[in-house]
Amino acid sequence: MSFPWAKHYEPQTAFTKWMDEKLPLPRLVYGAIGGGYPVPRNLNYMWNFGVLAGFCLVLQIVTGVVLAMHYAANGLVAFASTEHIMRDVNWGWMLRYAHANGASFFFMVLYLHIFRGFFYSSYKAPREMVWLLGVVIFLLAMATAFMGCVLPWGQMSFWGAKVITGLFGAIPVIGEPIQIWLLGGYAPDNAALNRFFSLHYLLPFVIAGVVVLHIWALHIPGSSNPTGVEVKQESDTIPFHPYYTAKDGFGLGVFLILYCAFLFFMPNMLGHPDNYIEANPLSTPALIVPEWYFYPFYAILRAFTVDLHIPFTNIVIIEAKLLGVMAMFSAILVWFFLPWLDKGPVRSGHYRPLFRKFFWFGLIPCMVALFYLGGAHAEEPYIMLSQLASAYYFLHFLVILPIVSMIERPEPLPYSITEAVLGEDKTAVLGENAEPVGV
Ligand code: HEM
Repeated sequence: MSFPWAKHYEPQTAFTKWMDEKLPLPRLVYGAIGGGYPVPRNLNYMWNFGVLAGFCLVLQIVTGVVLAMHYAANGLVAFASTEHIMRDVNWGWMLRYAHANGASFFFMVLYLHIFRGFFYSSYKAPREMVWLLGVVIFLLAMATAFMGCVLPWGQMSFWGAKVITGLFGAIPVIGEPIQIWLLGGYAPDNAALNRFFSLHYLLPFVIAGVVVLHIWALHIPGSSNPTGVEVKQESDTIPFHPYYTAKDGFGLGVFLILYCAFLFFMPNMLGHPDNYIEANPLSTPALIVPEWYFYPFYAILRAFTVDLHIPFTNIVIIEAKLLGVMAMFSAILVWFFLPWLDKGPVRSGHYRPLFRKFFWFGLIPCMVALFYLGGAHAEEPYIMLSQLASAYYFLHFLVILPIVSMIERPEPLPYSITEAVLGEDKTAVLGENAEPVGV
């Protein structure tokens, strides 16, 4: 939304005037992330994670492109080429650790960005498109990360690829042909490694394209804010630059301290030691687990241990494995429907007492449990706990959220963002400009 009080770009020098006529890029930047973009004045640190996600994406592309200059996507030498990067290439160890830990930090940032969206119902109108594009980004990021994990060609790479592509085999009739088509053979080998490398290189650029759409869609209504009350007047906003460039800069500093602590002091903590053993199709690891950021969805996949039968018969309708695959994909696909599942008129969880309880005492413990259970052995009591957590997960989004949004009585909202920040809103008192200008 272009607010009427948004400042316009005024080129100052002969060069910027010339540039503005020929290719008004500085004007675009000024209007998108500069002094010409008014933003709610009350954004808290949870609004830092979008910019941090953008930083991580750039970091992954830059480190990835350089790594690709030394990596060889061939089953015979892929593992050795990774070791070559670590030992022989100048600063190769740092590049690789920066990329591997960068992926982990990217997902940490994305999870925080998404859970900010859950709490403040950022998915609600008028930002549905921002949210939908976000879910597409998340799916693409997961596909990219999965293919990236296969590239070092260690034990977890090989067996992870085998298990995940094996999931498609659960689909009746067409499952096996799909699996063979995906791998280019009957097991992960050269063909699979080559296509995974090709797609792993390509997808981040597709993500970057969707991020542009994501931010474009965000600029139409403008950012939401912790009150969820839309912008009504000029005093509700401040220019993005210098206020949020400074705040995002601070957030980036904290992020970099944490990231560098992992990168330089515990670079292997988030990885799996088995991936330092070369892929061996004849030796199955005791525990095959994906990277930690897939754990919640892996826990849901493994929670399904019993086939679905026609009652009182032995006739199987859907095998347990297929049920798990369907549930795993549905766990993310359900996010697409959130703007319509949560019908409540109030956005921010701060003013939704019942929603807040289910968020902090339902969804968050459920996610923590799923994160833990996805990395645990597939044995009791973990299987039963995964089943309980998976059941709550779907119950939360498909039943609790719609019911809560219909029956809950929200707490009183401030008249405006200005009132929420300053405690009084002179415009509200005077009744001036009372018509909301936001959507
Ligand atoms: C590479 C990944 C991503 C990048 C670079 C990115 C970037 C951004 C940026 C810069 C903002 C504005 C600042 C902020 O609100 O934090 C934003 C807002 C938003 N993003 Fe993302 N995002 C990404 C992924 C996602 C994902 C995965 C989702 C959800 C599934 C999502 C949902 C949203 C929503 C709903 C908003 C609006 C928030 C509001 O104003 O209340 N984003 N994003």
